[in-house]
Amino acid sequence: MLSGPRLILRAIERDDLPRYVQWMNDPEVKRHLLPLPPFNFDDEIEWYESQRKDPSALNLAVVLKADNRHIGSVSLNHIDRQSQKAELGIVIGEKAEWYKGYGTEAIRLMVAYGFFTLNLHRIYLIVDADHTAAIRCYQRCGFKEEGRLRQNIYRQGRFEDQLVMGILKPEYREEMNTDYVR
Ligand SMILES: CC(C)(COP(=O)(O)OP(=O)(O)OC[C@H]1O[C@@H](n2cnc3c(N)ncnc32)[C@H](O)[C@@H]1OP(=O)(O)O)[C@@H](O)C(=O)NCCC(=O)NCCS
Repeated sequence: MLSGPRLILRAIERDDLPRYVQWMNDPEVKRHLLPLPPFNFDDEIEWYESQRKDPSALNLAVVLKADNRHIGSVSLNHIDRQSQKAELGIVIGEKAEWYKGYGTEAIRLMVAYGFFTLNLHRIYLIVDADHTAAIRCYQRCGFKEEGRLRQNIYRQGRFEDQLVMGILKPEYREEMNTDYVR
């Protein structure tokens, strides 16, 4: 379990899965995620079982310390031990909790875990170029824009640009609050 000022990150339990089904079928939540067809509980169980066995994936539940409420999920995927890199993913599924700084805190915790426990060197992500809140959140966590993937994703009838963003371990030391280093 990882602990920050207002959040804990813990393993995902089976009881959490219905919330993922709800979030992943919410058009506002999935607006900027990888396009998924309608998603049911069986799909969720299948995903849960496969990611638990996958050594290149780490998915954790984001939980509020104040009331123990599960509000989202943060992940490292494509963990590559040789090149010491992984791709970060984040979903705050409870929309009432958006823009309160929880996304930023969850990312900081996961990035610290990636660098200082998993010994990663690079953490990267791909984000829609018009996803202002997410980009702001990643910048606050020390991610830098590394490139623009022109018309990289087809959404709602048009091709949209995406950005590649990344943070390297030495940059983290310079930029991040050391409270998150465990
Ligand atoms: C993107 C997401 C993770 C951000 O999490 P969050 O907890 O809302 O983010 P934070 O509150 O930590 O930071 C959001 C930033 O956007 C700013 N912001 C607030 N309201 C905003 C709005 N309506 N539009 C754009 N930016 C806004 C905030 O001010 C904050 O920046 P600041 O800290 O400099 O003030 C969350 O909205 C989410 O899970 N969305 C759905 C899934 C998703 O899109 N995931 C990312 C895929 S790349």
